[in-house]
Parts: sequence; C-alpha cells; structure tokens
Amino acid sequence: MVAVAILAAGRGTRMKSDLPKVLHELGGRSLVQWVLESARGLRPSRRLVIVGYEGHRVRNSLTETYPGEDLEFVEQKEQLGTGHAIQQLLPHLEDFTGDLLVLNGDVPLLRPETLEQLMDLHKKQGNAATILTANLPNPTGYGRVFCDSQNRVKQIVEHRDCTDAQKQNHRINAGVYCFNWPALAKILPDLKADNDQQEYYLTDTVRHLSPVMAVDVDDFREIMGINNRRHLAAAHDILQDWVKEAWMDAGVTLIDPDSITIDDTVKLEADVIIEPQTHLRGQTAIRSGSRIGPGSLIENSQIGANVTVLYSVVSNSAIADNTRIGPYAHLRGHADVGAGCRIGNFVELKNATVGDRTNIAHLSYIGDATLGQQVNVGAGTITANYDGVKKHHTTIGDRTKTGSNSVLVAPITVGEDVTIAAGSVITDDVPDDCLAIAREHQTVKPGWRLKP
Ligand code: UD1
Ligand code: CA
Repeated sequence: MVAVAILAAGRGTRMKSDLPKVLHELGGRSLVQWVLESARGLRPSRRLVIVGYEGHRVRNSLTETYPGEDLEFVEQKEQLGTGHAIQQLLPHLEDFTGDLLVLNGDVPLLRPETLEQLMDLHKKQGNAATILTANLPNPTGYGRVFCDSQNRVKQIVEHRDCTDAQKQNHRINAGVYCFNWPALAKILPDLKADNDQQEYYLTDTVRHLSPVMAVDVDDFREIMGINNRRHLAAAHDILQDWVKEAWMDAGVTLIDPDSITIDDTVKLEADVIIEPQTHLRGQTAIRSGSRIGPGSLIENSQIGANVTVLYSVVSNSAIADNTRIGPYAHLRGHADVGAGCRIGNFVELKNATVGDRTNIAHLSYIGDATLGQQVNVGAGTITANYDGVKKHHTTIGDRTKTGSNSVLVAPITVGEDVTIAAGSVITDDVPDDCLAIAREHQTVKPGWRLKP
C-alpha cells in the first residue's frame, strides 16, 4: 500500500508573488497539479496535500480541478520546514503501515515511469527510504546527497549549509522520496532545526534510517525544482522540448522548433509541417499533410488533411481537407469550413458554416451564417448580423456569387445560383436563380461643372 504526500505549504518567497508558488501555472496546469498527475499512475490508496501559506487557495484550486476526488488536505499552520510539514501527517497516518511517497509540490516535470521505478526499487530492496537523485551540471541551490561506496545515503546537506568542499558534489536531492512510513513516523518527532535556516528538514531523517538508498533519474530535466520565475520559464522550455521531440519522432516536421509552442493536449498526424512562429493550443488536432504557419495560432480546433494555414488565427473551429486559410484570416466561435475552400486575406468568420469548395477570398466579415457549396463571396462582402440588440442569421445557397462590397442585412436568406450585384445592400430574401441589385442607378450629367 502506498500513500502520497505532496509538500505544498510554502509561500515560495523567491517567486516574489502573492500567489502561492504551487499555484503558478506551467503549460496549462498549476505546479501542484502536475505533481498530482505524475503520481496518479501509482494508484495510491491515500493522497495528502500539505497546505499552509494561502492554503485555502491551494485547496479550492485543487477541489475545483478534481471534483469528487478523494484528496486529503493537511494544514501546516506555520511553515517550519519540509520535515515539519511531514510531521503534520502523524495524526492522519496513525494506522497506516505502508510506504509513503513524498513529493515536493514545486517539482512538476517528474515522469510517472520514474516514480514507478523508484517504488519498485524501494520494495525490491526493502529499504527504509529510497530517494531520487541526479547529477547536475549546475547543482546550485539543491541539497547535496552523500553516499557510501554501496550507494547508501549517509547524509543530505542543503546548498547553503555546504562547505566549499561539499559543494563540489554534484549529486543532488530531487525532493522525491519513498519512506517506509512506520520507520519514518518513529523518528520524525526527533528532528532538530540546527541549520542555517533554522528549519526542520525532511532530509535530516536519512541519518536516522537504514538502509536509505539513492537512485539516479534518467533525464535530469525531470527533477527541476521551481523556486523563481527563471526556473518557471526554464521548465516551460523543458516541457516544450519534450512535446516537440515526441512529435518529431512521430513524423511531424517542425521548422525552427524554438519559435513554435505546442500544448501537450494537441494531437498531430505524421507529415504535418509546422512552420516558424506558430502556436498550437488546447484541444487541437491536425491531420496528415497539413502545413500550418508561419505565424499562426490554432486553438481548440480540428484541422483536416492537406490544409494550409498561413499567418492566421483559428480558434474553436473546424476546417475540412484541402482548404487554404490566410494569409491574415481569423476564424473563431465555431467556424466550420468545408473541404477545398479558400478563406483569404483579412477575412473573419464567426459562428459560420461554409460548404465545400466555397471561396471567401478577400476582406469579408461572415458571422452567424450558413453558406452552401461553391459559393463565391466577393471582396468586401459583409453579413450585417447585429441590429444593435440581437444577432441574426444569414443563409446563402449553393453556387451563389456575391458582388464586391455587398452587405447582407440579417436575418436574410439568399437562394441558390443567385448573383448579387456589386455594392448592393440586400435587406429582403432573394429567391433561387436570379440577379439581385440593390443600389442607386448611376447618374451622369454631361457638361456639368462646378460654378467658379
Ligand atoms: C528542497 C530540499 C532539497 C532539494 C530540493 C529539490 C529540504 C530541506 N530541501 O529544497 O534538498 O534539493 O527541495 O527541489 O527539503 N514546503 C512546505 N512546508 C514548509 C517548507 C516547504 O510544505 O515548511 C514545501 C514547499 O511548498 C515546496 C517544497 O516543500 O513545495 C520544497 O520547499 P523549498 O523551500 O522549495 O525547498 P528547497 O530549498 O527547494
Ligand atoms: Ca524548491
């Protein structure tokens, strides 16, 4: 049986923020949410989150994110150190006899596989404690782990408590520990705060437990702890590197990956090409052969196969196969564009369904509208959908052509095979198969001149 405890009571002074550190956001989730997710695969029998500084905010945020889940919140009223935090569990885990996995709430990038390996080793070796370590090129700020020749941990010394010689040891404590809980519970009350910060350190327990074994993490990027905003930015880069590396391995081309961001919720098929300065967010899926960017933002949208999106913004929308979007188009609020369409320069689509092989190539606003197939929307056509109070719908039938600069005043239905003359303001429904003209006749007055 395993219980998981997450240390989330600290303020995170170095963040210079009113928000508790563990609620800072990284790639769409709070830090503590990442930590909870990394431990989910272990199916722990209990999950205890130790909260303190602005504890109600941490608690509210987690209960909102995970309604109905059995998270237990344990209050650490004063933040007297990581060991003091774990001491708060004593009354809650009185009858618990299994292992306790302790995770720092500010170590968000742990892979579930790493935790599984740690737990497996802990059980196999029958350790009193097993701790995750890493050899860092730059270990500044981390606690240093000192082992004997058998890899048994003798002590952990915080960076600030290290002598110059001890600082030469680059093996660091990741802040991830598995303890035999009854053994830990027995020695927890004896912790002393005899260190530079005068805090009760969880790391001091290793001196009183035996055996304590260390295990190195495969990829040291995983164990990065977030203490300040620079760390947060660096963690974002690491996450992005992983997401992008995985998509490249799966057959996606990224041109200038450093200039691209991709949320981990996005789904791509092989042979998608992502051009520079492109950002893919939320529940977005893109089918094979599509080329997105440069300079595009796609959010919560479904993009078909062989679509191109050039310098455009697409949110909460769908685009079918072989359609070309942009440059400089804006699709939003459930724009649903068919196959083989062209949505061109400075066109905005909002809550609009567009049939297959329809073109809206230049300078249009099409909102709250249903367009049939093979419609040609002339340059500058506007659906006037808003009367100042309510939004109204426009319907345009198959093969209809609207002339340049026509205004369709909604609610309105224009039939199939209609031609609307350029510059028309159409206020009444138009039947199938006709020409509609709604503009003043041009008047020419021969010989007319302004009087001097
Ligand atoms: C801690 C470890 C250090 C390790 C590093 C890894 C200790 C003494 N040191 O240092 O060896 O290399 O993590 O990232 O444990 N917290 C509480 N209550 C408290 C104090 C802290 O819940 O009273 C929580 C914080 O919210 C945070 C976590 O514990 O999520 C770690 O605290 P932090 O102050 O960041 O410890 P580090 O100095 O980074
Ligand atoms: Ca930390």
